[in-house]
Amino acid sequence: MLLSMSHRYVGVMLMWVGLAFFLWGIYFFAKADGDLTILRQAPLPPNAFKDKVVWITGASQGIGETLSKEFASHGAKLILSARRLPELERVKASLSGLHAPSSVVLLPLDVTGSEDVLREAVEKAEASFDGKGVDIMVHNASAARPKHGYSEISEETTKTSFAVNVIGVITLTRILAPKMAQRGRGQFAVLSSVAAKIGAPGQSVYSASKSAQYAYFDAVRSEIGYTGVKVSLICPGPVKTDPTSSDPRQSLDRVVELIMKSIFHELDESWIAEQPILAMVYLRQHFPSIASFIMGKLGPKRVKTGGGYSLGEMLKKND
Ligand SMILES: NC(=O)c1ccc[n+]([C@@H]2O[C@H](COP(=O)([O-])OP(=O)(O)OC[C@H]3O[C@@H](n4cnc5c(N)ncnc54)[C@H](OP(=O)(O)O)[C@@H]3O)[C@@H](O)[C@H]2O)c1
Repeated sequence: MLLSMSHRYVGVMLMWVGLAFFLWGIYFFAKADGDLTILRQAPLPPNAFKDKVVWITGASQGIGETLSKEFASHGAKLILSARRLPELERVKASLSGLHAPSSVVLLPLDVTGSEDVLREAVEKAEASFDGKGVDIMVHNASAARPKHGYSEISEETTKTSFAVNVIGVITLTRILAPKMAQRGRGQFAVLSSVAAKIGAPGQSVYSASKSAQYAYFDAVRSEIGYTGVKVSLICPGPVKTDPTSSDPRQSLDRVVELIMKSIFHELDESWIAEQPILAMVYLRQHFPSIASFIMGKLGPKRVKTGGGYSLGEMLKKND
């Protein structure tokens, strides 16, 4: 009798513990701003990238500029690329760290250039810092991404999106990756997007280019992983790169903090987004039909409202 009472007591206790754990899990997920792997990673130690040669494209503004500051402050030897040299000079002047700003190398580059131009850029990057070679290539540059319905996106926008986000990135990687593989070390950190995981209504061509970029690196990782070269595919949701924007977007500093963790811990893939976008990525990954159903409801409204991120706007009844 006594034994069965104590069994019942243990059973009830376990049920309460299970319920508490379940509720805590729901609360944790509701507050999550990144996937469950990245949120578990330890913070970066001081000078986490000490003496690493890091080449960042699209370093003249936005995420690339903030990443440059973080890498500099963590002791990296930086090579910064974008088309606008004056903006690169401005970013360089704002950096501080073991090798910054004095030793920061500016390598102006249009990634849509010919193969010869990109080969020359890779050779210059490899020769920088006494020919140490690039340790981490951050593919961050991106074409402008105007928001329009699929039928209104011009051929020019389509070609530029693919030239910058796909062809340029592939050509640079094709030239640089074998050199890294020969050294038996190196990493490609690729600024992909949640739009590579879920086609974003109003950004169909951007999504297509980011999916192509994602698939390319997923394949390349499987080809060269054995050589010691890593690929980190980083998929942020909407980021507040424009402080004046009223759109609900994730803070730039927080996104960059998580990107740095993803690169430092050499994660294969990271999703960085607040709810409900993060939940949609999980749905897309594990329950694609449900995700398609929801996106089918939101898509027309998002295109109509100009491609913002306010769920309230998108859920308003269609006029
Ligand atoms: N911001 C977001 O909400 C968000 C969300 C998810 C993913 N992402 C990804 O994160 C990355 C950075 O986003 P961002 O918003 O910071 O970008 P951004 O503000 O639009 O900046 C784009 C950068 O790319 C450079 N660039 C553009 N065309 C180029 C070309 N032909 N050759 C070389 N550089 C070129 C630009 O510099 P120049 O004009 O000087 O060349 C600029 O530095 C992108 O890959 C983007 O897809 C962003």
